[in-house]
Amino acid sequence: MAKCRICGNAISAFMTFGRMPLANGFLTPDQFKDEYFFELAPAFCDSCHTVQLVDQPAPEAMFHGEYAFFSQTSKAMAAHFERFANDTMARRLGKTDPFVVELGSNDGIMLRHFAKAGIRHLGIEPSANVAEAARGQGVNTRCAFFGAETAREIMAEYGQADIIQAANVMCHIPDLNSVAEGVALLLKPDGFLIFEDPYLGDVIRKTSYDQIYDEHVYVFSALSVARIFGSHGLELVAVEPQVTHGGSMRYVIGRKGRHVVEASVAAAMADERALGLDKAATYDQFRRNCEASKDALMAALNDLAAKGKRVVGYGATSKSTTVTQYCGITPKHVEFISDTTPTKQGKCSPGAHIPVKPYDAFASSYPDVALLFAWNHAQEIFAKEEGFKASGGRWLVYVPEVTFIP
Ligand code: TMP
Ligand code: ZN
Repeated sequence: MAKCRICGNAISAFMTFGRMPLANGFLTPDQFKDEYFFELAPAFCDSCHTVQLVDQPAPEAMFHGEYAFFSQTSKAMAAHFERFANDTMARRLGKTDPFVVELGSNDGIMLRHFAKAGIRHLGIEPSANVAEAARGQGVNTRCAFFGAETAREIMAEYGQADIIQAANVMCHIPDLNSVAEGVALLLKPDGFLIFEDPYLGDVIRKTSYDQIYDEHVYVFSALSVARIFGSHGLELVAVEPQVTHGGSMRYVIGRKGRHVVEASVAAAMADERALGLDKAATYDQFRRNCEASKDALMAALNDLAAKGKRVVGYGATSKSTTVTQYCGITPKHVEFISDTTPTKQGKCSPGAHIPVKPYDAFASSYPDVALLFAWNHAQEIFAKEEGFKASGGRWLVYVPEVTFIP
């Protein structure tokens, strides 16, 4: 029996997505024979209410020197991180010689705004190539994983932090107790840990099961976050819903008793109980919803293939790996995936081995149907793809339901 990574309680998977490759494991045909697989199976801990993966590939297999994910690929996300940084500066930052630390600072998409404002900062980023890109933008970056030991090193060099920030990172870290311990050391008495990640409430409501993949070892709720950090002398003091990544939540955490707990916390927890996020039966229903979504998507794709329609994927996202592999989408269903990230182009998607091509391949010869793997960027994409629509092209989306647009 597996044990909860947070509280040690016995857990078992409420469903399996089957044998799964690395979500960001874009590869060339000569690498197919050595492709890495593991079983993607999420579990719900009925003691601490955390949703987590039972098994996960070693972090070193996922976040390494050739990690393909760079944050600065979407205009909307760049704007989101600028607002995040400005909001922190305006509402949460201390006044005397403030110091901001960001965990998983990627290519510096957020921290560069602190750098520009002349604020002392340090990014912690385990992927060497991504850390190097951040340094190129004038963002002070250390290549490391964050935990109690790294926290002590940072304190010795810089002192305590006013703000510890993280975006789409906390849910990647298996040993959150070590992170919480590090935060409890590094944070100034009135400092804040502010992080955001895809939100379990949205995943359950929208059946957006593609948020579940190797890197996302947790899908958080206010209930679980309060519990995780609560056992380290920390307290959830505010939550702020975000539209990014198809529905995220920002959690603001301080030292216990140092801040007024805002009404948003109790409100979110009441919502979560109403949605059943604290009950095993909810995850059973979620599994049935995933199966229905898969059946509907494959029915649509098989029908398109039978009619000889050209279908192209839009956005070779990490989360689409769960979709292609779980549903059984092959190059017979999807000719190629268009993606603007140079490091993914010319490679094949993990598991399904669908070729990834530059954006031009899509724009120069519109398909009949574009399968929107980057559904979380739908608004931005629909706005710039008027030409595709004008050509008679249709979008196929699968969150919250399998539908064609128009
Ligand atoms: P993300 O959802 O994890 O941010 O990944 C988005 C992926 O989609 C990334 O590989 C870039 C790609 N993409 C495009 O190809 N075109 C676009 O217009 C957008 C917004 C993203
Ligand atoms: Zn637990």
